[in-house]
Amino acid sequence: MRAGDKGSRENIALIGFMGSGKSETGRLLAPMLDLDHVDIDEIVAARAGMNISGIFEAEGESGFRVREKEALRAALQGDGMVISCGGGIVLDEANVRLLQDRCRVYLLHISKERAVERLSASGGRPLVAGGGLAQKVGRLLNEREHLYRDAADEIVAGDDASPLELAEEIAARWLRYRSAQREGNIPSS
Ligand code: S3P
Repeated sequence: MRAGDKGSRENIALIGFMGSGKSETGRLLAPMLDLDHVDIDEIVAARAGMNISGIFEAEGESGFRVREKEALRAALQGDGMVISCGGGIVLDEANVRLLQDRCRVYLLHISKERAVERLSASGGRPLVAGGGLAQKVGRLLNEREHLYRDAADEIVAGDDASPLELAEEIAARWLRYRSAQREGNIPSS
């Protein structure tokens, strides 16, 4: 991070594992702060004219990652946004640099147990489809846990919080951060 960059970070990014509540939390958070909400998976699907599973089938994970990266770049042409990222956004170093340059990054952290519980009740996620959910989640979390933590400015505990509670918590933290920024007393990340 270059000195002075933080003053220009006008966006909020929500990162975290599948099932951590990034989309719903972002949708609730944005109007609390009078910001716009952008969901990277939704942009990807709209641009491709297919849902996420369809993209994985047609183009593989690598095709999806290219689209995800393009969608993040396009979204970050603007300011004043809450950006709900897909769980794999942190796999690409350039994505992480861009997020850190342009956003205050909040990690919605959930445990493996909670992720398994939530993902077993929902579909549409090709990386954990087709059985062996707990093993798949465990492997992905092992690969990614440090990437999430390294990319985050702040970590929010998500196991026992609803999207509304998460949104309220992040809104309060953001307002504290912005007021510290205005006073020239910017907390280091
Ligand atoms: C992915 C997470 C998904 C979606 C895609 C890949 C991942 O988004 O981008 O299925 O690699 O973790 P959510 O985190 O919103 O489920």
